[in-house]
Amino acid sequence: MSVISIGNPKGGAGKTTLALVLADQLAASGVNAAVIDADPNAIIAKWAAKRAGAKKAMPYTVVPRPTEGEMIQTIERLAGEHSIVIIDLEGAASRMTSRALARSHMVLVPFNQSPVDAELAATAVALIDEEGEALGRRIPFRLVRSRDSAAIATKTSKRIASAIEAAGLPTLPIGLVERAAYRDIYEFGALLSELDPANTSGLAKAQENAQQLTEAVIAALREEYPA
Ligand SMILES: Nc1ncnc2c1ncn2[C@@H]1O[C@H](COP(=O)(O)OP(=O)(O)OP(=O)(O)O)[C@@H](O)[C@H]1O
Ligand SMILES: [Mg+2]
Repeated sequence: MSVISIGNPKGGAGKTTLALVLADQLAASGVNAAVIDADPNAIIAKWAAKRAGAKKAMPYTVVPRPTEGEMIQTIERLAGEHSIVIIDLEGAASRMTSRALARSHMVLVPFNQSPVDAELAATAVALIDEEGEALGRRIPFRLVRSRDSAAIATKTSKRIASAIEAAGLPTLPIGLVERAAYRDIYEFGALLSELDPANTSGLAKAQENAQQLTEAVIAALREEYPA
């Protein structure tokens, strides 16, 4: 059982999109997964409601935002029943976020490919480290490039990558590429496997990216928890 928080206090960093894509792929590969939707925008809870409205089966468990006081209990209950629990955190530092981090085996920190956002990702990492200090244990994390360009790396993204490497911040080798499919799954209450390639451009590429990203997350968990 692993608990993965997706956090970055920077709004719009790609947390919810990463949570949806990761849960989608884990469920597609037969992993018994659950998502706690701790984002006040309740995007994933709304996605689940769209599926329920269309009488589509739920491939993974979705739990709407618990209260701060319920967070730990919710994580523990879900972790007892699922192999992986993903927590989509809000775009702000909060006690709710602290509680989620306290029970997380890994934190994924998505960040957009801009110098400002890369600097803010370093702030997000500092918050994770502070939380770890308070707990007396290191909380493993990985930065995840968000809305990565599908084409070749830009000069800016190359500069950002080398600054992050110089700062010694571990980054997943695969980022979440900017793809229409990742917006369409929300709009249609769909899974990547349910989208129609005639209506979603680059669908096969999005599926490949999602799969590689999910494998990279599993590899990072194995790296941190070899047993
Ligand atoms: N890889 C991607 N491809 C296409 N669109 C994306 C991608 N990542 C994010 N987006 C879009 O960018 C916007 C912000 O993304 P998202 O909601 O995932 O960020 P967030 O970090 O969860 O935001 P908040 O802090 O408000 O919770 C959304 O409109 C989303 O559809
Ligand atoms: Mg969000």
